Amino acid sequence: MGADDLIGSFFKYAFVSIATGVGLYAALLGLLTTTTFQSHAVYLHAIQMTWFKDLDVPEQFGFLKNQVTPFSIKTPDNELLYAWHVLPIELYRKHELALIAEPTGHISDITSRLAFQLLRDDPDARLVIHFHGAAGTVGSGYRVPNYRALSAGHPGKIHVLTFDYRGFGRSKGQPSEEGLIADSLTVVNWAMRVAGIPASRIVIFGQSMGTAASVAVSHHFAAQSPPTIFAGTVLVAPFVNVPTLVSTYSVAGTIPILSPMARFPAAFNYLLGYIRDKWLSNERIAQYARMNEVNEAKYRLTIIHAEDDWDIPFHHSEVLFWHAVNGSVPVGITYDQLQENKVEAQVDLGAAGTVMEWRTDYGVIREEIIKTGLHDVVMGYPVITIAVMRHFEAADPAFTA
Ligand SMILES: *[C@@H]1O[C@H](CO)[C@@H](O)[C@H](O)[C@H]1NC(C)=O
Repeated sequence: MGADDLIGSFFKYAFVSIATGVGLYAALLGLLTTTTFQSHAVYLHAIQMTWFKDLDVPEQFGFLKNQVTPFSIKTPDNELLYAWHVLPIELYRKHELALIAEPTGHISDITSRLAFQLLRDDPDARLVIHFHGAAGTVGSGYRVPNYRALSAGHPGKIHVLTFDYRGFGRSKGQPSEEGLIADSLTVVNWAMRVAGIPASRIVIFGQSMGTAASVAVSHHFAAQSPPTIFAGTVLVAPFVNVPTLVSTYSVAGTIPILSPMARFPAAFNYLLGYIRDKWLSNERIAQYARMNEVNEAKYRLTIIHAEDDWDIPFHHSEVLFWHAVNGSVPVGITYDQLQENKVEAQVDLGAAGTVMEWRTDYGVIREEIIKTGLHDVVMGYPVITIAVMRHFEAADPAFTA
């Protein structure tokens, strides 16, 4: 074989592989425009991660006997949502013998259970409603240590309610933005009506995709008349909205999916137009702040993000924080103005990161950028515990007195 042949076949080979690559990429982009594929790509609900464990046996996830009550909540459109009520540890200890004596497993009437009564009948009980991220179930990964961190500040009083959205785990149906918001509202209504916990004793907590549900819930209740405002909303590793997320998203933090397309704005915007569930948290969070300012309603919002989060870059939190702040200022504020403001007002905690608090007559909007914690590990960290306590204390100083 002569050198020319060699070079010729090299180019032929290179051409074929480039063509294959471009073809595969085009096929991927094409696939991304279908709603079924999109819904799997956004919600990852088919990835359960806990295949070899039984959610009805929470002890398999490290809980004490009957510390968790598995039960179901029905949505107005007749989906059955799978939920866990997690008892805080000190409260459990006080009632250990009675709790152990109760039947185990999924319960059809949760009101018959001691654990539920300990929540409903204690006027000082607090509840964190937990909105988990994409993929998995209530029992997956860092969610279990997350529940402990949420109640660690007052382990005799802070209960956790967590659930699987439709299409996740044992909850039937197909996920969609509309459906997930309906599920989230159903769970919050259950907490207020069936468990009888007023909004002032509830913190809304979301991580990753769950932050979009949390923002939608906070926004929905603030828009009612009269408005319902929770003790606080805590967002961990949030994103601005889905179109912004997909344009920055990289598989495992390295292989960009859509960012190569971003160099061709017309084609890129065309593709973004196909996104069904946009989850515009930026707009909702701005409206949330705006409504509360207009209604003169006290509100508190905390955004937490780790700098080493490779799934969702922490810049998303800076932008979301800005949208919230912008909503709270009648004349608005530009991103750059806010960044300038940070030079003065941001607190530098060294290796622990930075904190920026924006206060108005009615609201406190707080941004915490921590140095480490990745996307999920942060959920079990003390910053989570203290954020929850800060919200409950602000709503009622007697809680920590
Ligand atoms: C910021 O707030 C102002 C005043 O409400 C508004 O006119 C502007 O559109 C907002 N900016 C963004 C990017 O939403």
